[in-house]
Amino acid sequence: MEGFATLVLVFSILRISIAVDTMTVNQIITDGETITSAGGSFELGFFSPDSSKNRYVGIWYKKVATRTVVWVANRQIPLTDSSGVLKVTDRGTLVILNGTNTTIWSSNSSRPAQNPNAQLLDSGNLVMKNGNDSDSENFLWQSFDYPCDTLLPGMKFGRNRVTGLDRYLSSWKTTDDPSIGNFTYRLDPGGSPQLLVRNGSTVTFRSGPWNGLRFSGFPQLRPNSVYRYAFIFNDKEMYYTFELVNSSVITRLVLSPEGYAQRFTWIDRTGDWILYSSAQTDDCDSYALCGVYGICKINRSPKCECMKGFEPKFQSNWDMADWSDGCVRSTPMVCQKSNGFLKYSGVKLPDTRNSWLNESMNLKECASLCLRNCSCTAYTNSDIRGGGSGCLLWFGDLTDIREYTENGQDFYIRMAKSELDAFAMTSSGSKGAKRKWVIVSTVSIVGMILLSLVLTLYVLRKKRLRRKGAENNEREEDLELPLFDLDTILNATDNFSNDNKLGEGGFGPVYKGMLQDGKEIAVKRLSKESRQGLDEFKNEVIHISKLQHRNLVKLLGCCIHGEEKMLIYEYMPNKSLDFFIFG
Ligand SMILES: *[C@@H]1O[C@H](CO)[C@@H](O)[C@H](O)[C@H]1NC(C)=O
Ligand SMILES: *[C@@H]1O[C@H](CO)[C@@H](O)[C@H](O)[C@H]1NC(C)=O
Ligand SMILES: *[C@@H]1O[C@H](CO)[C@@H](O)[C@H](O)[C@H]1NC(C)=O
Ligand SMILES: *[C@@H]1O[C@H](CO)[C@@H](O)[C@H](O)[C@H]1NC(C)=O
Ligand SMILES: *[C@@H]1O[C@H](CO)[C@@H](O)[C@H](O)[C@H]1NC(C)=O
Ligand SMILES: *[C@@H]1O[C@H](CO)[C@@H](O)[C@H](O)[C@H]1NC(C)=O
Ligand SMILES: *[C@@H]1O[C@H](CO)[C@@H](O)[C@H](O)[C@H]1NC(C)=O
Ligand SMILES: *[C@@H]1O[C@H](CO)[C@@H](O)[C@H](O)[C@H]1NC(C)=O
Ligand SMILES: *[C@@H]1O[C@H](CO)[C@@H](O)[C@H](O)[C@H]1NC(C)=O
Repeated sequence: MEGFATLVLVFSILRISIAVDTMTVNQIITDGETITSAGGSFELGFFSPDSSKNRYVGIWYKKVATRTVVWVANRQIPLTDSSGVLKVTDRGTLVILNGTNTTIWSSNSSRPAQNPNAQLLDSGNLVMKNGNDSDSENFLWQSFDYPCDTLLPGMKFGRNRVTGLDRYLSSWKTTDDPSIGNFTYRLDPGGSPQLLVRNGSTVTFRSGPWNGLRFSGFPQLRPNSVYRYAFIFNDKEMYYTFELVNSSVITRLVLSPEGYAQRFTWIDRTGDWILYSSAQTDDCDSYALCGVYGICKINRSPKCECMKGFEPKFQSNWDMADWSDGCVRSTPMVCQKSNGFLKYSGVKLPDTRNSWLNESMNLKECASLCLRNCSCTAYTNSDIRGGGSGCLLWFGDLTDIREYTENGQDFYIRMAKSELDAFAMTSSGSKGAKRKWVIVSTVSIVGMILLSLVLTLYVLRKKRLRRKGAENNEREEDLELPLFDLDTILNATDNFSNDNKLGEGGFGPVYKGMLQDGKEIAVKRLSKESRQGLDEFKNEVIHISKLQHRNLVKLLGCCIHGEEKMLIYEYMPNKSLDFFIFG
């Protein structure tokens, strides 16, 4: 402990801080000297990381007790002793010379220099500028354009689409060695841009595309008291950036040598960094854990499931928790006009490297565009703000999908009509029709046809039975559906309050209700216009109850009170409302 204190003391004596933030041409900084930014936030000088003896030129926090380096100049070529110097050349570059005057590192510039000087800004950005020209557009060079493993407030994480400059993070090899490690964290411009962590060339984590509010794979990213964030995406640039809400807070985003993208915040009181958030939160964040068309559900065991209509490609591997081969369609799909779409909700959108983006299309146009192109496998809104806008299409296999409990997104995956029919009415998003009334009216027409069929059959049958004179017995036997009294229904639906109204179909409105025993019901109030007699209604109920898919929504009974006729169903929130409305 005492040894450590002495060391710290020696360290601070050796470090002679020049009370300026700027270096001019031919001015030299030797090992042991530093310069400090005007506000005293950052310091530039020579250092050795942890147990290493190598010397590097870097920038670290001045106010943070544990030395935390945010940028390293000569990360690939260390100095082996303390004879190095840093200087500004008259060509407007920064150079590091070793003890025998060999340039071991140099910044560069594509612009002519005039009275160049290097300044360490209080943001931690080391900039080379001409004279007093502090317009960032005119900088000859800036360290923020060449990040190491750390993203600071104000840095642009992404690309300049005009110059091609790509600012990305690359991990240190180890905490002792700032040289480029295995991992990079980089904005991928393909389709809808997303951030990718790679180990070498292998993707290990994906942020998902920006959806107007956040990256699809960062459900935890929300407005907070520490930093504001933005994703800029236009013809010239695409980048993620953040800035501080309170400039006295110290926060940084860093890519660790193990490939974790983490945000740390400095706590003065404890004198330590705390982990504020992490891009990778659990196993489901491992890229493509469940293979193609697999979906990862962190609270399930096993975590991986095939998407609806898909099954494991190799069942035995899948059963052994080797999900990497993913899933294939249970029924091979032929691309044709009759194909539809199945809606997936509350998920991280699939890998968008094989996607296509149009920000001005609406969801309906998006759906029909996808339907027309046989290689299109899925679509969704590219921006979820204000009810959704823009079009994002996927071509080819869908990968790296996971389920979220909050802030998940919806997307629509192509399915054969036969599959969709098999899933029955659960995909209210089919054909991209967002507005309920479209479905309600279509479904109602089908309902009308079905009902008239039932009625016709019934009338024919009644005539036949009457002829046989044997109608009563059979009818009584069938009438096993309980009758509800009106008071029960009024109580359950709060007197058919508008708040409880689920929708309106061709037969009349449908209400949600709760019986005294807590059972949730859906009540379909048949329009009074249907001038049926009592017996006819009862018979109709029986026939409907025979016709309906009992496994979908259970008909509990009916209620008859004067002119009022109602059908009572079990309420199943997971099933589409359309079924109740159509019934
Ligand atoms: C400076 O670098 C050159 C070239 O790498 C090398 O030959 C020389 O030994 C180095 N000098 C010192 C003092 O490290
Ligand atoms: C390095 O350059 C400086 C300045 O040009 C000079 O004073 C010094 O003698 C040189 N050192 C060596 C080892 O050449
Ligand atoms: C400057 O150097 C970086 C590598 O440090 C290189 O990627 C970039 O192309 C260079 N730019 C110019 C203008 O030479
Ligand atoms: C820089 O600014 C200072 C004070 O604002 C001024 O005196 C000086 O002439 C300027 N230098 C240049 C090169 O513009
Ligand atoms: C990164 O990849 C290398 C080989 O390419 C492998 O040895 C190593 O385990 C991987 N690291 C992680 C954290 O996945
Ligand atoms: C900013 O943060 C500092 C330190 O945490 C705190 O003392 C100060 O009150 C904050 N300022 C504002 C405006 O929130
Ligand atoms: C980096 O990759 C090498 C092989 O390429 C591997 O031996 C090493 O374990 C990897 N390091 C990490 C932290 O993944
Ligand atoms: C995007 O969609 C709009 C509206 O449909 C269309 O006018 C425009 O040409 C599309 N842009 C591209 C690049 O396809
Ligand atoms: C389908 O979309 C892909 C990718 O945008 C495109 O290359 C292909 O030409 C399209 N096919 C048709 C038939 O439009």
